[in-house]
Amino acid sequence: MSQRHRASWARVPVPDCSAGRKLTPMCGIVGYVGGQNALDVVIAGLKRLEYRGYDSAGVAVLADGSLAAAKKAGKLANLEKELADRPLPTGTTGIGHTRWATHGAPNDANAHPHLDNAGRVAVVHNGIIENFAELRSELTDRGHELLSETDTEVVSHLLAEAYSSAGDLAEAMRQVCRRLEGAFTLVAVDADAPDVVVGARRNSPLVVGVGDGENFLASDVAAFIAHTRDAIELGQDQVVELRREGVTVTGFDGELGDVREYHIDWDASAAEKAGYDYFMLKEIAEQPKAVADTLLGRIDANGRLVLDEVRIPAYVLREIDKIVIVACGTAFHAGMIAKYAIEHWTRVPCEIELASEFRYRDPILDPRTLVIAISQSGETMDTLMALRHAREQGSRVLAICNTNGSTIPRESDAVLYTHAGPEVAVASTKAFLTQLVACYLVALYLGQVRGTKWGDEIVSLVRELSDIAKQVEQVLGTMEPVRELARSLKDKNTVLFLGRHVGYPVALEGALKLKELAYMHAEGFAAGELKHGPIALIEDDLPVVVVVPSPRGRSVLHDKIVSNIQEIRARGARTIVIAEEGDEAVAPYADHLIRIPATPTLLQPLVATVPLQVFACELATARGNEVDQPRNLAKSVTVE
Ligand code: G6P
Repeated sequence: MSQRHRASWARVPVPDCSAGRKLTPMCGIVGYVGGQNALDVVIAGLKRLEYRGYDSAGVAVLADGSLAAAKKAGKLANLEKELADRPLPTGTTGIGHTRWATHGAPNDANAHPHLDNAGRVAVVHNGIIENFAELRSELTDRGHELLSETDTEVVSHLLAEAYSSAGDLAEAMRQVCRRLEGAFTLVAVDADAPDVVVGARRNSPLVVGVGDGENFLASDVAAFIAHTRDAIELGQDQVVELRREGVTVTGFDGELGDVREYHIDWDASAAEKAGYDYFMLKEIAEQPKAVADTLLGRIDANGRLVLDEVRIPAYVLREIDKIVIVACGTAFHAGMIAKYAIEHWTRVPCEIELASEFRYRDPILDPRTLVIAISQSGETMDTLMALRHAREQGSRVLAICNTNGSTIPRESDAVLYTHAGPEVAVASTKAFLTQLVACYLVALYLGQVRGTKWGDEIVSLVRELSDIAKQVEQVLGTMEPVRELARSLKDKNTVLFLGRHVGYPVALEGALKLKELAYMHAEGFAAGELKHGPIALIEDDLPVVVVVPSPRGRSVLHDKIVSNIQEIRARGARTIVIAEEGDEAVAPYADHLIRIPATPTLLQPLVATVPLQVFACELATARGNEVDQPRNLAKSVTVE
């Protein structure tokens, strides 16, 4: 294999934040060149990327010196039907796209790929070409006819022009990229360049899969994991030329580019449903393993933490005087819980902030602030922009991430990977539990490095953390009554969730799961806030889920929540109580009692969240909703 890429890994400088202000729609992209039927490879890849968007899909293949394309609004299944009715010729070079629309209706015309007027060039795109109006009028003046409302189409026309003078598709792509403003991943083929696929990347993900006599391009490794586990991470402003026999990576200026090669440590079976009806069910069931895998190799024989990946030197960690966590969605809830653990175990002040709010309020940051960015995908634009802002202010950034090679860890000073394996269902489950484990590890590690926890205390906390995987397993074995309860509530309009201390973020996560999946009005409250407003919502037979803290240890929390349960029950609420085994004080006030194993207070979210995931999943199924791909959502939100 004649690889011309260089396998070096330079620290990425803090990019210009203004670049990220551009809207970057999600979308999934696949490219293939090799010996197999390209259409089969591309469609199979798109199926794995449909979580990135499912508004329309399209493909293009090169066959016998010409280009053939098909595209269809709606889910990939519509495109597959179209291809069954009107098959494309067979070829071994192809590209594909699945779209999450932000601009331009999700119809057939706006679906990708977009072709030039001669039908020789096809382009798929993830991003926004901000200067497309200017480029479009320039092209129209030169006699080009543009057929869609998209910005992407200008690229196919520009690429066709550039290719006719450059005679080399990668060079043509570089010339075009130098003219584009905005954020984009582009992948293209040209009928006059058989056995070549080119790609370009600025501010949107694109990875290369390196096979034997075949190579792949995709937004995410899941698209090619069935064929190869060797990948190359592309840098910012790079163009890649893919041929059967090798891959060449250059900058937009034509200089050979720095890239990083890596091996993917999970295989194709991890991205299959494995007999489950939905990915979400499989991912909920995988949680004990995901939790155990995230701890693996991070605890030595003496019970001390070994986080070699946290490359921030110990003396820097000792000087930190503030921690700020930034995240979105479910990852934000993990961050809320982390705050309790970090402050309790390290005594360092810790703030948690929605990444989307962070940089707009001019947060106080300096080199003694440690910013922790939590993201499953590593591509969430809000989180990425927050970390760039923090690095511009001189703060160190530690990423907690599940996706090797993604942008957030690449732009951070250090990364602690969660080992959840690929999470396909849009609503996050196993990633959440592993984010929590990673946060606990970071908190304990800081306690270890800064000496705020004695060695034996750390050993005992680590032991308790190590027991959690089997406790999650135990919870999963007792979920049938929860499923039954969920089915019985399918016609309700509202469910409320209450919690205290770390149970409060759990309540928020329970409500978020229900919104995402069941499309119900669901709200989480700190139980202490009830009397300040939310109690007015309580009416007869309103289901209220209450996450009860352990009666051991901080029993004052427990006693207060028992009072809260009585208050809402007195007003007619139907109480669904999640309480640890042996907690008999809550039993008289629980219309439904869900038992979880006894854990230390701070670790309880790892077991208390599981019934809420099962509850939301079953309620959504009972309401006939699509569990893995809820309406209007996408897994990786690369828009600000
Ligand atoms: C989207 C997903 C959520 C996820 C959030 C943050 O909204 O639907 O499930 O929690 O993004 O994603 P991240 O990849 O940054 O963890």
